[in-house]
Amino acid sequence: MDTASENGTEPNILLSYADNAPEHTILFIHGYPLSSVMWAPQLDGLAGVAYCVAPDLRGFGESGTPGGAVSMADYADDCIALLDDLELDDPVVVCGLSMGGYVALELQRRHPDRVAALILASTKAGADSDEAKAGRDKAARAARDEGPEAVAATMLPKMLAAASYAEDPDLVADVNEIMRQASVEGIVGALGAMRDRIDSTPLLGAIDVPTLVIHGRDDTLMPIAEGEKLAAGIPDAHFLVVDDAGHLVNLEQEDVFNQAVFEFLAVLSGSQAED
Ligand code: MLT
Repeated sequence: MDTASENGTEPNILLSYADNAPEHTILFIHGYPLSSVMWAPQLDGLAGVAYCVAPDLRGFGESGTPGGAVSMADYADDCIALLDDLELDDPVVVCGLSMGGYVALELQRRHPDRVAALILASTKAGADSDEAKAGRDKAARAARDEGPEAVAATMLPKMLAAASYAEDPDLVADVNEIMRQASVEGIVGALGAMRDRIDSTPLLGAIDVPTLVIHGRDDTLMPIAEGEKLAAGIPDAHFLVVDDAGHLVNLEQEDVFNQAVFEFLAVLSGSQAED
């Protein structure tokens, strides 16, 4: 990762220097109803490998909530505005989990020049069925009437593999805590954005950046067949199935997830060097 460069100085001396600026930036986009906190093991484990940026989407974590309807386009544009503020003008690796994957696909559609590669975890390309849309509206009513705690209680058992849920009380408590901290506006906004998102299936064949699709084998919230379909639709995508993991594969198998990202970045560096 170290680079050696030369820099012009006065009078006409070229100084060579080494630095450890990471070659890649990864934009991590969280799922629903979570926050950037879900990426803590990646920010920690990949710190020496990539510059990692993990926003809280509007209405989640510490981010503000402008109120009103939200769309996937809003989330994607918010991410680009953040990259602009950070002066990260070069294309970045975009890693999204579940709803974060919907945002990643929207980023690819709206801002392909900002995407160097995609990591799509526990997600899918298709839009909501009519039944799923009705479920979003029901969940939004529950969030308004009963608060984020009720949403968290409903979601919690589905977020993790049955074994993680039964055997890892600390992880269960951590995930519950992240979800309970979501604002009602954030939850309702995300439910509307997911309900109204467009079908990204037609986009898949045109994705021309390296793509890694990751799915937990025991994901009950997002069936593994969705990950298979997603990977099959994207030219040359690599599909990784992770054992002993459910929906939150990056938390349930953080080492496997980080190693997969590490290897993906290495391949990316190789292919960029060839260009
Ligand atoms: C998520 O985990 O981000 C959401 O549950 C995805 C969805 O509901 O479609």
